[in-house]
Amino acid sequence: MSDSKKRYTLTAALPYTNGPIHIGHLAGVYVPADIFARYKRLQGHDVAFICGSDEHGVAISMKARKEGISPKEVIDTYDAIIRKSFEDFGISFDNYSRTSRDIHHKTAQEFFTKLYEQKDFIEETSEQLFDAEANIFLADRFVTGTCPKCQNIEAYGDQCEKCGSSLNATDLIDPKSTLSGATPSLKSTTHWYLPLDKSEAFLRKWILEDHKEDWKSNVYGQCKSWIDDGLRPRAVTRDLDWGIKVPLESADGKVLYVWFEAPIGYISSTKEWADKKGIDWEPYWKDENTSLIHFIGKDNIVFHCIIFPALLKAHGDYILPENVPANEFLNLEGQKLSTSKNWAVWLHEYLEDFEGMQDALRYVLTINAPETKDNDFTWDDFQARVNNELVSVYGNFINRVVVLSQKYYDGIVPEAGPLSDEDKQILQELKEAPSAIEKSLDRYRFREAAGLLMGVARLGNKYLADHEPWKLIKSDPERVKTIMNVALQLSAGLAYLSEPFLPFSAEKLKKMLNLKIIENPFEHLKTATYLISAGQNLGTSELLFRKIENAEIQNQLDKLKSTEKDSTIMQEPQKPAINYDTFSSLDLRVGTILSAEKMPKADRLLVLKVDTGLDQRTIVSGIAEHFSPEEVVGKKVCVLMNLEPRKLRGVESQGMLLMATDPEGKLSFMSPEDAVAAGSPIS
Ligand code: MF3
Ligand code: ZN
Repeated sequence: MSDSKKRYTLTAALPYTNGPIHIGHLAGVYVPADIFARYKRLQGHDVAFICGSDEHGVAISMKARKEGISPKEVIDTYDAIIRKSFEDFGISFDNYSRTSRDIHHKTAQEFFTKLYEQKDFIEETSEQLFDAEANIFLADRFVTGTCPKCQNIEAYGDQCEKCGSSLNATDLIDPKSTLSGATPSLKSTTHWYLPLDKSEAFLRKWILEDHKEDWKSNVYGQCKSWIDDGLRPRAVTRDLDWGIKVPLESADGKVLYVWFEAPIGYISSTKEWADKKGIDWEPYWKDENTSLIHFIGKDNIVFHCIIFPALLKAHGDYILPENVPANEFLNLEGQKLSTSKNWAVWLHEYLEDFEGMQDALRYVLTINAPETKDNDFTWDDFQARVNNELVSVYGNFINRVVVLSQKYYDGIVPEAGPLSDEDKQILQELKEAPSAIEKSLDRYRFREAAGLLMGVARLGNKYLADHEPWKLIKSDPERVKTIMNVALQLSAGLAYLSEPFLPFSAEKLKKMLNLKIIENPFEHLKTATYLISAGQNLGTSELLFRKIENAEIQNQLDKLKSTEKDSTIMQEPQKPAINYDTFSSLDLRVGTILSAEKMPKADRLLVLKVDTGLDQRTIVSGIAEHFSPEEVVGKKVCVLMNLEPRKLRGVESQGMLLMATDPEGKLSFMSPEDAVAAGSPIS
C-alpha cells in the first residue's frame, strides 16, 4: 500500500437490540462515523466500516422477562428494525453483524481462552446474591432493596436512582429478587477478573501522554479521571443464562460479561466481512499501519479507552485505537432522551414521516452535533435549519443554476468568457474548500466541516443574487454565459464535497449536472478549475430539498407529547443543598399511632396519640380527608420529633408525621416495616 493510501478500521458502537435507533444514537455515533467513512473512502483509502447488534447483556433478558417472550425474540425483532433503518438512512457500513452469531461466540471465546492461558486473569471467589427459588445468581439489575445511603426502597443492585449512589448488590438493605420476589441468600461463586490496576502505567503513558494532543478534551478528561481515581480489577464473567458461555469446564452456568465480549464484536464483524469478500481480516486489526478509530457516545468512553485497549494489549497481537472521538449527548426538546419513557425521535418513524428526507436529518444532526457538550434537538430548529439553510440557500442556488441553464442554453454548459476578479476569487475559494473541510474532518470537527460545506452553497447563492443573471440576460448575454459557467463550477464542486455529508442529495445533484465519477474528488477539486466542461449536457432538474410545513412540526410535537410515558411527572426542581449538620438536626423517629379521633368542626384534622419510644405525645395531622381514624390506629409512622409545637384549634401538636403526596394529591404514610420498634431513630 502506498504512503497516501491508508487502511482504516472504523467502528461504530454496537447498538443494544432492546429498542430501535433514535436521533441521540445518530447524532452521537452513526452520523459522524458515516461521514468519516465516506470521506476516507472518497480519499481513496481502504476502509472497513464495522458495526453490528449487541445482543447480550441484562437489559435484553430483562426486557424479555417483562414482555414474557424469549431473549431471542427480543433480539430478532430489534435487530431487524435497526438493520433496516440504518440501511434506509444510508449509513454505509461495510458490515453489520450480530453478537449472537457463531463467528462472534467463537471469536470471543478464543480471545478469553488466550488471556486465560496467558494467566492474564485473576480468579476470585466471593459471595453473591442468589435467588434459590429461581435457581439463579442475581445480576445487579435483578435485585432491588433499600438504599443504605438514602433509604429509597427501590434502589437497584448497582445504583440508587434516587440519591445517585453507586452500590453493590450486597449493600442493599432488605434485598428482593425481582424475578421471584424472594429474599436472596448469599452464595459463593467464582469469577475471572481483569486486573486493570496492573495496566495503569501503560494507560497513563498511552493516553495521558501520547494522546494528550489529539484526543478530544471530553474523552481525555474522562480517561484522566478514571485513571487518577485508581483502576480496580473488573470481572469479565457473570452468572447469567443469556450470553456467551465461558469456555472453561469449571465455569458451568457462567457467561462472558457483555462489556468483555461486545467490543470483540468489532473483530468478529470484520472477520465476517473479510470472509465474504475473500480477503484477510488480520491487517485490519493487527497491522501497525492501520488506523483503528472507535465512534461512540460518551457513556462508552471507559470501555473503549481503558478496558478494551487493556484487553487488546494483554492479548498481544492487536493494534490499539488511534482515536476515540466520543460525542456528548443530544437532548430532545430540553429533556433527556429516554427509550423507556418513549421520549425520542425514532429513526424508523422519521423515515416514514419524512420520506426521502434522510439528508435533512443528517444535516441538522451534524450542524448541531453534541460534539463538545450536550446539545438540544428541537423540531422548530429542525424546521428552521432545513427551510433556511438547505432549501433557501443550497437548494435555491442549485435550482436557479439548473433552471436558468435549461432556459438560456437548453441545458448545455455555456463557455466562460474572460473571468472578472470576483469570478477568480470565487473559483479560488472553491479550490480551497476541500482542504479546509479535510482539516476539520481529520480533527473530528463535523459541525465545522458541515458549516464549511454550507459556506460554499452560500457563496454560490450570493454570487447569483449579486449578479442577477436573470436581469443581465437582456443587456449582456455574453457576461451571463461566464456567470452561469462559474455558477455551474460551484454547483459541481458542491456535489462532490457533499458526498460524505448529504449522500442522497450529492447523488441527485451529480445526476442533474451529469457529472462524471472522478477518483478522489477532494484532491481533484484542489487543482482543477473546470469541474464541468463547456458544451456538456446537463441532466434533468430535480428538487433537492423540500420545505417543512408548520403542520408537520406540530404533528411531531403532538406525537412526542401523546406517546410520552406517564412516568415523567413534572418534578419540582431540587432544593438548595444543605450540609450534613442541617440534616442531622432533624430528629426523626419511628412512632406507632395509638389512637386517633376527628378534631371537632375541622374536616381535615385528626388528633393522634403517638408512641415515639420516648413518650406518648399528641400530634395533630391534616390527613382526615384521606384516612379514617380506625384505619390509622396501629400504623408505624415516621415522626419529626423536634418541630416547634404549635396549637391547632386549641390542641397543641408536638411534632409532625412525614407523608408522601402523589400528583393527584393522595397521601401515603412513610411507614417502616412493622418489625421496626417505635422509637427507632431514622437517619
Ligand atoms: N451496546 C452498547 C451501548 O449501546 C455499546 C456497545 S459498543 C461495543 O451502549 F463496543 F461494546 F460493542
Ligand atoms: Zn439512595
